[in-house]
Amino acid sequence: MVVVLLGFMGAGKSTVAAQLQKPVYDMDQIIEQRIGMTIADYFALKGEAAFRLLETEVLEELLSLTEDAVISTGGGVVLSEQNRTLLATNRQKNVYLAAPFSVLYQRIKADQQNQRPIFLQHSEEEVYAIYQQRVSLYQAIADIVIETEQKSPEELARMIECL
Ligand code: S3P
Repeated sequence: MVVVLLGFMGAGKSTVAAQLQKPVYDMDQIIEQRIGMTIADYFALKGEAAFRLLETEVLEELLSLTEDAVISTGGGVVLSEQNRTLLATNRQKNVYLAAPFSVLYQRIKADQQNQRPIFLQHSEEEVYAIYQQRVSLYQAIADIVIETEQKSPEELARMIECL
């Protein structure tokens, strides 16, 4: 079974995935390996639309996996209708890692290792509007919603391993 981790930036998708005993396919890492630069640099050089095309390509490839694995998605994966259809039709276990916007925004702001282009290019109010727009999209394709605020990455990983 393939577990797909969904959620906004800062939800802990990659952090939780790193704690799992199963093979993990991190979409952002795979994309960065392919493009040979950071996603922030790619956004600046080619634009968001070019990134979204790559994201769909990688999602489609990974959803054809038949092994017991975890796919950690990027927070914007739900924006494209094509991706949402892929996620709904290849549905095995779509797990939405949810958290309040204030918590997510603090994490995104504090993350010096991974400066997200969406954060760099928008004000807090704009990022909030993006969050609000996406929440219903995550919920619509989730089989399971996990509230992450009070849980450690280890706890979340154990919960996901039991799915
Ligand atoms: C994005 C989220 C990022 C990354 C890219 C775009 C988004 O992934 O894919 O910067 O639109 O929310 P994380 O959710 O892993 O930060």
